This record gives sequence, structure tokens and C-alpha cells, in this order.
Amino acid sequence: MSEPHIAQRGPYAVAVEAGKEYWWCRCGRSQSQPFCDGSHKVGPFRPLRYLAPRSETLYFCGCKHSATPPLCDGSHKLL
Ligand code: FES
Ligand code: FES
Repeated sequence: MSEPHIAQRGPYAVAVEAGKEYWWCRCGRSQSQPFCDGSHKVGPFRPLRYLAPRSETLYFCGCKHSATPPLCDGSHKLL
């Protein structure tokens, strides 16, 4: 199990708050996408921390194949 699960073939729009930290699900198995719920424990993946520098809407990668995680870079279109 070295490939992440594709949770969704597109990003999740999230309104983040300045100074708050978020743990992006890298494995794709979380039931509370795009963030980690602990479901990764059966595999090799660990969540990725994101500290929001400002309050804004961001597009978190749902396919788990972005080259610029935790944010979508359009790679889902190639899957
Ligand atoms: Fe993963 Fe867009 S959702 S790159
Ligand atoms: Fe996917 Fe934690 S549930 S990284």
C-alpha cells in the first residue's frame, strides 16, 4: 500500500482561519475529508500539517496526488 486512496477527483473548498492549524489527510482514507481522522494508522501515510497564514478559502487536494500538497495543483485531471 504505497499509493494513497483517491478520496475525490477534485479539491475540497475550505474557509481556513488565520493562525489555525489543519491536518490534511494524505492517505485518502479519512471520513472527514480533506482532513485526517486517524484512519491512516493501518498504512504508511501520515497527515500533513498546514498552518493558515491568513483567513481565506483554500482548495485542499482530494485526489491525494497533488505535487503541492495540501493544496490542489490540478493533478487530479490526469488521474
Ligand atoms: Fe488533487 Fe486537485 S484534487 S490535485
Ligand atoms: Fe488520512 Fe490520517 S486519515 S492521513
